[in-house]
Amino acid sequence: MTRVMFVCLGNICRSPMAEFIFRDMLQKRGLEKEFYIESSATSREELGNPVYPPARKKLAEYGISCAGKTARQFSAADYDRFDYILAMEDSNVRNLRRMVDDSEGKICRLLDYSANPRNIADPWYTGDFQITYDDIVEGCEAFLAEIL
Ligand code: 4NP
Repeated sequence: MTRVMFVCLGNICRSPMAEFIFRDMLQKRGLEKEFYIESSATSREELGNPVYPPARKKLAEYGISCAGKTARQFSAADYDRFDYILAMEDSNVRNLRRMVDDSEGKICRLLDYSANPRNIADPWYTGDFQITYDDIVEGCEAFLAEIL
């Protein structure tokens, strides 16, 4: 069982999109029993809130439901509970490394696994949820290929 935690700033846009896109990818490949997946926020801004409607809508366009997901904050205990802690951008990585000592090197950006390592821009500010979706698919496919 490989345990994966996706992390962003608010846990209402990028990291829940990554959680449900990756889960969908695993289901389509019959791999869902091999993984345990969650997502969380570095900030407390949106705790308890559901996935932001435009993010939910973008997932729905691809037949992916995120029903029931509400935002929660990353905690120091999560560091030991997960094998991979995949952040969306540099600032998330910095915030995580302030919360925990990354002695086991578990924390990196999702797109560090891609051929073109980069941040995933925050659609809360850009408004472009298609780029977010495409970046997350690229990252999840590259991550899955790497760990398989
Ligand atoms: P996310 O987007 O980090 O992709 O979930 C954000 C959502 C909310 C806020 C920031 C980013 N906020 O500050 O409330």
